[in-house]
Parts: sequence; structure tokens; C-alpha cells
Amino acid sequence: MELSLSQMIESKEILVTGGTGFIGSHTVVELIELGYEPIILDNWSNSSQAILKQISAITGKDCVFYHGDMRDLEFLRSVFKKHSISGVIHFAAFKAVAESVEKPLHYYDNNLGALLNLLKCLEEFEVNKIVFSSSCTVYGVANSLDPLTEEMPVGKPNSPYGWTKWMAEQILMDIAKGTSLRPIFLRYFNPMGAHVSGKLGELPLGPPNNVLPYITQTAAGIRKELTIFGNDYDTPDGTCVRDYIHVMDVAKAHVKSLMHSFESAFEVFNLGTGKGTSVLELVQLFEQVTSKKLNYHFGARRPGDVDALYADVSKAKKFLNWNTERTIEDAILDAWKWEQYRLEHEIS
Ligand SMILES: NC(=O)c1ccc[n+]([C@@H]2O[C@H](COP(=O)([O-])OP(=O)(O)OC[C@H]3O[C@@H](n4cnc5c(N)ncnc54)[C@H](O)[C@@H]3O)[C@@H](O)[C@H]2O)c1
Repeated sequence: MELSLSQMIESKEILVTGGTGFIGSHTVVELIELGYEPIILDNWSNSSQAILKQISAITGKDCVFYHGDMRDLEFLRSVFKKHSISGVIHFAAFKAVAESVEKPLHYYDNNLGALLNLLKCLEEFEVNKIVFSSSCTVYGVANSLDPLTEEMPVGKPNSPYGWTKWMAEQILMDIAKGTSLRPIFLRYFNPMGAHVSGKLGELPLGPPNNVLPYITQTAAGIRKELTIFGNDYDTPDGTCVRDYIHVMDVAKAHVKSLMHSFESAFEVFNLGTGKGTSVLELVQLFEQVTSKKLNYHFGARRPGDVDALYADVSKAKKFLNWNTERTIEDAILDAWKWEQYRLEHEIS
């Protein structure tokens, strides 16, 4: 694979779909700090207006923002018409694995409907660069405790959510083969943490689907106790093993992806740390670094969960010139800082 670091982004306007969401908002901060002009779009189905203020508090800049649903093609077209968008980072999607098992149509409709409309706009407005939020769930059930490489076969995700990511990659690959569209798929493992300032972080509406915000909310007294879903998995301590990565490291990888151009029709990169940590280990680390005792118990397995997933990240390191810069302890401390900040400032 040949690559060159290029200044291929002519306009600095980058459309960030789902830009008030967890990973989107941190990526917006990173884009602003590197001189880009993010155009944020979100329907607030899983985020809120409050995040825009937090982005301004960190960067000193008010972003252009559009409130609307990507499944509304005319709304999406209107955003493209108003700007000279040179690249898109597409975060907007529903993401709760267990919910997708209960409501598959909801997930296929939103995650694929939004993508198809976006692709129509990319074609009409001749935008070639798209960085797509994919997921390690596309690897399905891992057969060993070895790290997952991008070459591993995909195609058997364990939930409708995972299938939406797999199908989205397939759609993008098919279109890229016959056009100038150049998608980059970033397969995230488990992003967590918050901005180091403590002024921006994950803001789940209702009970969190990800473990760290559940932990911080339990420690803050918002939730009575944490349920660890399953302690009979085929892992050393019986709880699921995941590859937890600081959200700002994930954010940086998006900007690196925008800055690179590849000769190939599409590229895939795993984003993780390369190290697996069990849910129980994460809970114990939280207790150690914050000196807070956590109320938790073991419950039944969640539908759609698999034993262990962690990444081989050598490809992203080599070709994106990207490295993780923060530890799991940093992520825990930043998330805890954010939890306390948002309670103090009544951010919801
Ligand atoms: N957080 C994770 O652990 C994780 C892991 C792997 C992949 N991903 C993927 O990364 C992306 C971002 O994840 P996140 O954790 O920031 O999620 P998030 O829910 O915090 O952010 C997604 C944002 O998209 C918005 N959105 C959803 N559907 C929309 C629509 N039709 N139109 C407009 N806005 C819409 C939501 O309101 C939300 O603000 C998602 O595509 C997710 O599937 C996340």
C-alpha cells in the first residue's frame, strides 16, 4: 500500500455527522485545534445541545451546527449546499448492541438509512473523502484470545447493530470500487474517557450502554449499583475482555485519517490499544485510581456480547502514523473528572 501525507483537503470544512455525540464531540475539538472548520450535524437522539457549549468552552469557538435527521435527504442536501465540504466523518448511528437485538428494524433503518442519504449527497456534491465509524463487532465471535487484525474475516457479527456496520462497510466498498469515493473504515474497539479538561465527556441519555459511564454514575450515586453482565465467559476472570481506548486517541486517529490519502479504493484500520482488559479489572482499576468503592454485582450475560475482543493496531500505527498517547488510568480519571463537572454544572 502506497501512501503519501498530503494536503488534499482543499476546503477546511469537514462535516461531522453525530458531532454532538460522544466520539464526535471529542473529534470536533481535535479538528478545531488543528485548524479545521467542523460543520456539526446531529438530531440529538443520543446527545444534547449542551455539548455545543462545552465544545466552545474548550476551544473558544462556536461551531456551525445543524439540528436534523440524516434520514431526511432534503435536510442533508441543504447542509451540503450551504458549505464547501471537503470531507465527512460519519459518526451518526445508533450503537447499543443489546437494544439492536430487541429493535433490529430501528437499527437498520437509522444506521443504513442515514448512510445511504449521505452517499447520495457525496455523489451529488462530489465529495470523495469519508471516514466511517465502524466497530470491532464486525469481527463477530473471536475464536481465540489472539488480537484481531484487519485481515481477519468479517461477516458474522453477533447483533443487528454489528450487521449494520458490516453492511455499511460493504456498501461503501462497492461504491468505492466504481467511483472516486475513498472511504476509510475505523474499527473502534472500546472508546472511553473524556477530554482532559473534564469539561467534555460521554453524556448518555438514560442508563448508559457503555461500562465506564455506568461506573462513574454509580460512583457518583446516580445509579444504585453496577451490573457486570456475565462472569462465566471463557476469559481468565470470567468477565468479558475488551480493548479500552481513550476517546481522545480515537479522535486523533480521525484527523490523521483525513490528512492521509491512499491509492487503494478503501482502507480499514483497527483503533484500540492492543491490550485486553476485563470488565472486572476495569472496575478494580477505577477503585484504585479514584479511591472510590464501587457497588457492583454479577448478572446474566447480555445478548450479543462475545468473550474477548482486542485489537492488533500495528497497521494504524504504521500507515496513519498514529499512536495511543493515553492510558486506561487516564481515561478513568478524565471520565471521573467529567462526571463530577457535569453534576456540578447540571449538564444533561
Ligand atoms: N462508543 C463506542 O463504544 C463505539 C464503538 C464502536 C463504534 N462506535 C460507533 O461510533 C459512532 C459514534 O459513537 P458514539 O459513542 O459517539 O455514539 P453517540 O450515540 O454518542 O453519538 C452518535 C450521535 O449520532 C446522532 N445520531 C444518531 N442517528 C442520527 C441521525 N439519523 N441523524 C442525525 N444524528 C444522528 C446521535 O444523536 C448522537 O449524538 C457510532 O457510529 C457508533 O456505532 C462506537
